[in-house]
Amino acid sequence: MHIAFFDSGVGGLTVLHEAIQRMPGERFIYFGDSHHAPYGTKTREEITELVFRACAFLAEKKLKALVVACNTATSVAVKALRDTYDFPIIGMEPAIKPAVESSDDKRVLVCATDLTLKEEKLDRLVQDLNAGDKVDYLSLQGLVLLAERFQLDAPETEAYLRHQLSGIPWSRYHAIVLGCTHFIYFREQIRRLIAPHVRILDGNRGTVNNLMTRVHPESSPEKKEIQYFISGQQADAGHFDKYLDYLTAMQAL
Ligand code: DGL
Repeated sequence: MHIAFFDSGVGGLTVLHEAIQRMPGERFIYFGDSHHAPYGTKTREEITELVFRACAFLAEKKLKALVVACNTATSVAVKALRDTYDFPIIGMEPAIKPAVESSDDKRVLVCATDLTLKEEKLDRLVQDLNAGDKVDYLSLQGLVLLAERFQLDAPETEAYLRHQLSGIPWSRYHAIVLGCTHFIYFREQIRRLIAPHVRILDGNRGTVNNLMTRVHPESSPEKKEIQYFISGQQADAGHFDKYLDYLTAMQAL
């Protein structure tokens, strides 16, 4: 049995990377819908159709669980997926709760895709935390295609981030939340452009924690096995492995 990870493209590899380390012995399937990325600029209807198409493909494999490693797809479709399939389905949640709880007076900046920022699910999360007056929002949608093109350290990326992040009065903030799995690749570049006291939080660890409570671990760790698919076609492992290697190098910094 496999654990499947799904994303609009390469973003979900940041969650898979965490799972590989903490769940040795599991067999993974990764489905990146890169031919249809980005999702964040599409309509709810378009995203729902793409997500259900991908999940129908994945459900034909024997799945122990499915991780929707995409905040955008989670916002739009996780509830409907859970109503449709009987294997455990784990979604993403922006790490707003730990961000809000770690300071009484300073603000939190939530960065996500255009669509995630428009969705009711995010509003509800902030309202449930009673944090409406402490949270601001910023779309960093442009990072999604930069990640898809592996322009992780490119001058265009630096220029984009500089444009988006300069002018923000960082002394008023204590945390920035990366609410899109593609943004994790840019954590170091973001670090360099914001004030040193600002914490950078994401939901990846929490998602893998949830996954680990939902599946029985494999008892005999064996060699890492990952099957990769791009939009339903078997994909060359090298394309995805280079992102996992980049994440390993980031971790060593
Ligand atoms: N990784 C997706 C997320 O977490 C990116 C969405 C997109 O394709 O725009 O939201």
